Amino acid sequence: MPDIELAAQALASAHKIVCFSGAGISAESGIPTYRDKMTGLWERYSPQELETAKAFRENPKLIWGWYLWRRKQAAQAQPNAAHLALHNMVSLGKKVSVITQNIDDLHERAGSQDVVHLHGNLNTPKCFACHRPAGMAQVEDIVPEEGALIDPPRCGRCGGRLRPGVVWYGENLPKDAWKSAMSLVKDCDVLISVGTSGVVFPAAKLPDIALSAGSTVIHVNTLDVGLGNSNELMLIGRASEVLPQLFAAMASGA
Ligand code: APR
Repeated sequence: MPDIELAAQALASAHKIVCFSGAGISAESGIPTYRDKMTGLWERYSPQELETAKAFRENPKLIWGWYLWRRKQAAQAQPNAAHLALHNMVSLGKKVSVITQNIDDLHERAGSQDVVHLHGNLNTPKCFACHRPAGMAQVEDIVPEEGALIDPPRCGRCGGRLRPGVVWYGENLPKDAWKSAMSLVKDCDVLISVGTSGVVFPAAKLPDIALSAGSTVIHVNTLDVGLGNSNELMLIGRASEVLPQLFAAMASGA
């Protein structure tokens, strides 16, 4: 039986579904991934170079401008059929929890509730010095060009520079987010891992943890990223095509 039918059957009989998503689920909404061929600013810099406290310390205007540009890009993007199909699974009586590595809000805008953001998000800046949350009200609603150098606003308490509320390389994941993710993954019937290269830890451990807990893991990716476990299914294709197919099969009583 084809993996897509096995996957639909596993989802149809599941009660608790966890979606673990990466940049690939937002790619078809026009938001670039991290490791596909880079374009624009990212052609000159790898995200891994820009996503560090060191880069911010050395060039705060470049990093702040880059995140404002990414925030504008995410705001202009729309949830795609993959985000919507995931949320629609709720209408079939499923408990669907989303754990994402993405810093955009496309899952929320597709209707998903209580999304766990392992790597933070674009709308919660904080002070680089005292870590006080700042909120976007303090941030001018400017529309930066790609590569624009923009002075970060200053913290109202200590005068330090504001930084994006995202997790950079070498930083710890938010404790609450990781705790929620672990509890959801250990207790789910099926984990759908969508659009992630699985190379950044500890997030990349989640599918393995689900497998060890006896859950079925369904990978959805344009590349074969399967680990070869007997409880694992690999659906090769675009998320915006595969997830609606899975939803349709579930709805027709796979
Ligand atoms: N549908 C499904 N999968 C896709 C699609 C698509 N339309 N387009 C790309 N992909 C897959 C790619 O094959 C790749 O495996 O999505 C994955 C994207 O991988 P990355 O760019 O590495 O993104 P991600 O896995 O989310 O990166 C993890 O790395 O830089 C850090 O903090 C950053 O959260 C990010 C983390």
